[in-house]
Amino acid sequence: MPEADVSKRDKNYYTDIPQPTAGYFLKGASNLGWGMKHRLAQVFSPTSGRTVMLAVDHGYFQGPTTGLERIDQTIVPLIPNCDAFFCTRGILRSVVPADITKPVFLRASGGPSILKELSDEEIAMDIEDAIRLNAAGIGIQVFIGGEHETRSVHNMTKLVDMGMRYGIPVMAVTAVGKDMVRDAKYFRLACRMCAELGANVLKTYFVSEEFETVTSSCPVPIVMAGGKKLPELEALTMAYNAVQQGAAGVDMGRNIFQSDAPAAMMEAVNKVVHENMKPKDALDLFNTLKNAKK
Ligand code: R5P
Repeated sequence: MPEADVSKRDKNYYTDIPQPTAGYFLKGASNLGWGMKHRLAQVFSPTSGRTVMLAVDHGYFQGPTTGLERIDQTIVPLIPNCDAFFCTRGILRSVVPADITKPVFLRASGGPSILKELSDEEIAMDIEDAIRLNAAGIGIQVFIGGEHETRSVHNMTKLVDMGMRYGIPVMAVTAVGKDMVRDAKYFRLACRMCAELGANVLKTYFVSEEFETVTSSCPVPIVMAGGKKLPELEALTMAYNAVQQGAAGVDMGRNIFQSDAPAAMMEAVNKVVHENMKPKDALDLFNTLKNAKK
């Protein structure tokens, strides 16, 4: 049985050497099939190699959280400015017009509400429905270290098998329980496990120390989740640092839809992610766009 990692030898993550991406722009995707590559190229810009996904799936366990009370009013107008839209099939069918041209990533896990143990999830969607909805990808929560760790990992591997059958990429979301430490060591473990077990994309939180080792030791693209609402400059700085340290973009929710000016924030995040705009310049842009709306 493999032992826990007790080696005294220093680890080398080769953070300054990008993983080769033979023949296809996206990390870890060279050997995938045409359909999956085509879907990924809708989500990640082949020019910048990055994406700005708009995450609005929170209602699947939180209900109508702040900013998502009426997705038709607050979120649908933002869709043209994201690269991909991450939501549940319920919201997609009931609220989102079918003539949007942006790719959709669908939340495929669920079960417990915020009133219960969140790791107690199951797969909550058939792959056929994802195909029916023309999904560009499907996303699932994985609770490494959580009470139902093994089941959540197996949920993901089952979804990966379904996705591989039809060319639909799976994004594993590394959920962090209330009492879990969020540090690079944890996210290296969580992201690498999910990638080794077949996830095509990882979504994880930013950590201020050694985030570049999380991205470099994960063989597939990582997108950064935004987390709790922060002042705009902090959120833009976090997104900037994440992409500079190897993230292939963001999948942000609250820091966009709970902003005073969500459309302006979306635009500022786009500039940071795709054009490497510095956080202070992006904040200036945010303020200019926000004030222009008044
Ligand atoms: C959370 O469970 C959801 O998967 C969200 O999509 C994710 O947390 C990203 O949203 P936020 O930027 O609000 O953290």
